[in-house]
Amino acid sequence: MNDNLIKVSVVGVGYWGPNIIRNFISNAHTSVDSICDIRSERIDAIRSIYPFLKSTRDYRELVHSSDNDLIAICTPVFTHYEIAREALLAGKHVLLTKPMTSTTEQAEELVNLSEKKGLKIFVDHTFMYHGAVKKMKELLLEGKIGDLYYFDSVRVNLGLFQHDVNVVWDLAPHDISIMYYLLDQYPESVIATGADHFGTKLEDMAYLTVYYPNNLIAHIHVNWLSPVKIRQTLIAGSKRMIVWDDNEPSEKVRIYDKGIEIVPTSDQVYDILIQYRTGDMYCPKIDTREALAVEVEDIVNSIQHGKTPISDGKVGLMIVKILEAAQYSIKHRGKEVKI
Ligand SMILES: NC(=O)c1ccc[n+]([C@@H]2O[C@H](COP(=O)([O-])OP(=O)(O)OC[C@H]3O[C@@H](n4cnc5c(N)ncnc54)[C@H](O)[C@@H]3O)[C@@H](O)[C@H]2O)c1
Repeated sequence: MNDNLIKVSVVGVGYWGPNIIRNFISNAHTSVDSICDIRSERIDAIRSIYPFLKSTRDYRELVHSSDNDLIAICTPVFTHYEIAREALLAGKHVLLTKPMTSTTEQAEELVNLSEKKGLKIFVDHTFMYHGAVKKMKELLLEGKIGDLYYFDSVRVNLGLFQHDVNVVWDLAPHDISIMYYLLDQYPESVIATGADHFGTKLEDMAYLTVYYPNNLIAHIHVNWLSPVKIRQTLIAGSKRMIVWDDNEPSEKVRIYDKGIEIVPTSDQVYDILIQYRTGDMYCPKIDTREALAVEVEDIVNSIQHGKTPISDGKVGLMIVKILEAAQYSIKHRGKEVKI
């Protein structure tokens, strides 16, 4: 028995919770102590795979137990704030599934509370740990892409309609977290539009535009009503362009040596000549490890060695801010909202 093991309790073992459990069990520095769900059939399903796990239907029992160090909260977003707040007050680190909270105010309060208590908040923005995203981040940091022009992300498919959140709160946290990590700048404002076609008051499709300084612009299209599944991101810079197609089984990331150059032909502005550059395309090798396994390593390094994690409470808070701004903009038919 390793005394340095980080012991985890998982609250909410519906669809995503089991992936969190599996990855904390697989890591040599973490173990799962117990689980909680208000639905006993979900507890039974998990215990049929991991019979050694303690279980309860009341999260307070886990939060106040002395057998764990970290509470992983994998419940719907509207429950996150209450459970996380109680866990932090009880002296536990927390991992929250995306999005961190339902409001900016809640996220800010959790960040302040964690700082006051000397505890860590991790937010499961899984894509920030994806091998393709890691590779794109390296290319950007190495200056291979040049000055950035735009980020454009499409995440559309048919369903799964959620009952408590619209498509922006369900799917866009992925794209916003990738955008925020890769562009590494503070956005200026958001404009968003969307539509609810079934009278649920929850938009099933939406378009977000995020303005950054220096003419950098980001666009995100999320949609539950698409006949085909598309997971595509384009990033363009002055030197190269990237296409990431997550549906591609291999060669997910392609780097294109394409672009344009403006050549003035005289001192008259309308006389400029646009030259198109088309060079080679290559597909870099990317890390194919499961993103959640990499995320668990990051959590271990943060708790045991004090490293700043890629996705902490401050990142989670920023993403909630952008989501909230987008939500407000949608309700006001595309009004620009400053961040
Ligand atoms: N990173 C990803 O790719 C990804 C994918 C899917 C879901 N998620 C996130 O994971 C979270 C859960 O989503 P899901 O799809 O697993 O939902 P889900 O409905 O399948 O599971 C949530 C579970 O939480 C339980 N629950 C609800 N309130 C509870 C409470 N107060 N105490 C204990 N248990 C409670 C429910 O009974 C349910 O079993 C959400 O935040 C979602 O956004 C992330």
